[in-house]
Amino acid sequence: MANQDFLNEINKRRTFAIISHPDAGKTTITEKVLLFGKALQRAGTVKGRGSNQHAKSDWMEMEKERGISVTTSVMQFPYNDALVNLLDTPGHEDFSEDTYRTLTAVDSCLMVIDAAKGVEDRTRKLMEVTRLRDTPIVTFMNKLDRDIRDPMEVLDEVETELKIMCAPVSWPIGCGKEFKGVYHIHRDETILYQSGQGHTIQEVRIVKGLDNPELDKAVGEDLAQQLRDELELVLGASHEFDLELFLQGKLTPVFFGTALGNFGVDHMLDGLTEWAPAPQPRQTETRAVEASEEKFSGFVFKIQANMDPKHRDRVAFLRIVSGKYTQGMKMNHVRIGKTVSISDAVTFMAGDRERAEEAFAGDIIGLHNHGTIQIGDTFTQGDALKFTGIPNFAPELFRRIRLRDPLKQKQLLKGLVQLSEEGAVQVFRPLINNDLIVGAVGVLQFDVVVSRLKSEYNVDALYEPVTVQTARWVSCKDTKKYEEFKRKCEVNLALDGGDNLTYIAPSRVNLNLTMERYPEVSFHQTREH
Ligand code: G4P
Repeated sequence: MANQDFLNEINKRRTFAIISHPDAGKTTITEKVLLFGKALQRAGTVKGRGSNQHAKSDWMEMEKERGISVTTSVMQFPYNDALVNLLDTPGHEDFSEDTYRTLTAVDSCLMVIDAAKGVEDRTRKLMEVTRLRDTPIVTFMNKLDRDIRDPMEVLDEVETELKIMCAPVSWPIGCGKEFKGVYHIHRDETILYQSGQGHTIQEVRIVKGLDNPELDKAVGEDLAQQLRDELELVLGASHEFDLELFLQGKLTPVFFGTALGNFGVDHMLDGLTEWAPAPQPRQTETRAVEASEEKFSGFVFKIQANMDPKHRDRVAFLRIVSGKYTQGMKMNHVRIGKTVSISDAVTFMAGDRERAEEAFAGDIIGLHNHGTIQIGDTFTQGDALKFTGIPNFAPELFRRIRLRDPLKQKQLLKGLVQLSEEGAVQVFRPLINNDLIVGAVGVLQFDVVVSRLKSEYNVDALYEPVTVQTARWVSCKDTKKYEEFKRKCEVNLALDGGDNLTYIAPSRVNLNLTMERYPEVSFHQTREH
């Protein structure tokens, strides 16, 4: 029987990531969240965009030049009775397959929406990824200090476009210059907004009850009446919060506020820490593993190269699924069948890399990797389990890679295959020629690969455009039909880094036509490792 302290440690953990479109406010909200978590003294230190004030981690040269983070950092901090792990999801030019895979390593997500813009493209894509595990979603409608769209309309858009029910937990009073605060539906109180307090935790002024005349005084009679009218409408037309539906990923609690003004972020954090699930069980090829199992287990969802350029180490990010990590413990590296002793795993406390003495299910630890760890690898304390659900995602961008020195073809292929095993990029070799096609989800992956090929494999490579627009892994139960498909579609077939057959389509139209023409063949958007 697991002891109570051990179970308490696990049950207080909340591991989540932020999904949003670039510029919706992810970085700003991360700062405020860390401020509440007491991990930052003052907001404004996570990312020194446009200034020399970089975050505290070691940066790759490229990161410095571009002022963006290639690193998916993990930030751990206490909030209320919870211990929160926030996994950063690269979002701008550094958007990559890692962003998608990070979403397979969390138990819930915070969706940040710019309330002036509504549902945007990247959010749509990321929501699709969260559907793979029906991850519970908490929503924050941001930038209420600006003129936003009609909140009802934005909720409606979320419901229809993202196919998730909305349950407003707070409701805004005015917006832009007239933004007065929010009414917290569950607490039956109005929290008043003061501008210019974004860098600190605000002293809050609260008015209890909706019919309280104090409310009229505080926000003005017109806005108070508008709030009462809107609420009547909203409560009639929208959904009530339902924990079960939330945990199934079917309903999202919605909070309003301004990350920049540091207003409403605490309401969201209160909701998230109260409702979001503790570390969830994960499926292996043979059985589901519960977080409360005493034996350690975990899977690798991301490999980060060159976090410290001086040591050129690679760190494998491992999500602990069950049990507990202690320094010096022995783990079974299941794929290669070896027992390894881990004495120097790292944790990520608000950007600092610290030595982890111990870590529990739900936490992320970083393992130093000298080339033996791949994306999707399972580590256990004993049993030879293999976690599933850490897939490759079909790339969306493609380029042909070519050598400046043609004699290095072998090194190039070796480098590309290794980098694809690390999840840095995907590589495809067409059946009909000797091209090497590199596929990525985010454009920065291409630069990372060329710079790593040069520094780690001494290969000078460059890219050329190629007419591939999308890729799908293929399979088919009917051998005869499969052979026919392979024969007829040979020009569009390729092998990926793991020798899996892939259809590389010159256009979406071509892909759709081919899928119609060969209904027996399955076209997969993800592939398990
Ligand atoms: P991202 O990580 O999702 O890309 O968004 P980020 O937080 O960097 O925010 C994008 C821009 O939106 C930033 O302005 C930021 O200050 C602003 N912003 C974020 N939250 C709010 C909010 O609640 N209200 C208002 N009015 N603005 C907000 P920027 O000018 O692009 O960058 P910066 O120079 O201010 O850092």
